[in-house]
Amino acid sequence: MIEVDLNTVTCPLSWAELFGRSTPVDVEIGAGKGRFLLQLALDHPERSFLGVERAHKYHAMLCHRAGRRGVTNVRMLRTTAEDLLFRLLAPASVANLYVLFPDPWPKKRHHKRRLITPEVVDAMRRALEPGGRLFVKTDHPEYAGVIEDVLGRASGWAVCDPAAAFSGLPLTGFEVKYIQEGRPIRAFVLEKSTDVGTADQLPRPGRLIHTHEPLEESTP
Ligand SMILES: C[S@@+](CC[C@H](N)C(=O)[O-])C[C@H]1O[C@@H](n2cnc3c(N)ncnc32)[C@H](O)[C@@H]1O
Repeated sequence: MIEVDLNTVTCPLSWAELFGRSTPVDVEIGAGKGRFLLQLALDHPERSFLGVERAHKYHAMLCHRAGRRGVTNVRMLRTTAEDLLFRLLAPASVANLYVLFPDPWPKKRHHKRRLITPEVVDAMRRALEPGGRLFVKTDHPEYAGVIEDVLGRASGWAVCDPAAAFSGLPLTGFEVKYIQEGRPIRAFVLEKSTDVGTADQLPRPGRLIHTHEPLEESTP
């Protein structure tokens, strides 16, 4: 069963209970219609994937698509990123965390709704295994600057080359649309380190990356 009932899960989440097996687990926050998550799950049957989506419409669509494509290594929780990070995830339990095109909330009075804050990034670090990676992408130039600043100040991370780290990963639905529109996309990848402060000595995150992957789908 792809869809997990939030009311019946144990807290913190047990991967053995959710997936019935013991494998590394990657988590996508704000999975939308699931283009990225489902393709990644099909590409990696040896791993397990948890998607979190707060919008009922997208959550339902993703579960339906997963069933139609015969994906068995994905579970979906309909809840918020904050509920996941501050209540549900066990410390050091996640192999990779993906936050791809989070809502930019462009109006100033809505900035407080943005997901990427120092507290949330600390919670993401807590949830990751040592060596686990946080992958972020955005098309929104101003939000990209804020993300760069928040990630640049966070401690306990090493900075990875985003082009290398994202290579071979699927495109998201929004990304396909943004590439067709010619919008620049910025990507950030951090790796959880045990050495606090190493991020300062490494190259800056947030390089502009160009994707040359063929586009097969037109709907985000
Ligand atoms: C701009 S869309 C990107 C969807 C997908 N990642 C993609 O790139 O195609 C942002 C998604 O995040 C979801 N979302 C926004 N805030 C969220 C939150 N706090 N918790 C969970 N999902 C959230 C939205 O419902 C939406 O599906």
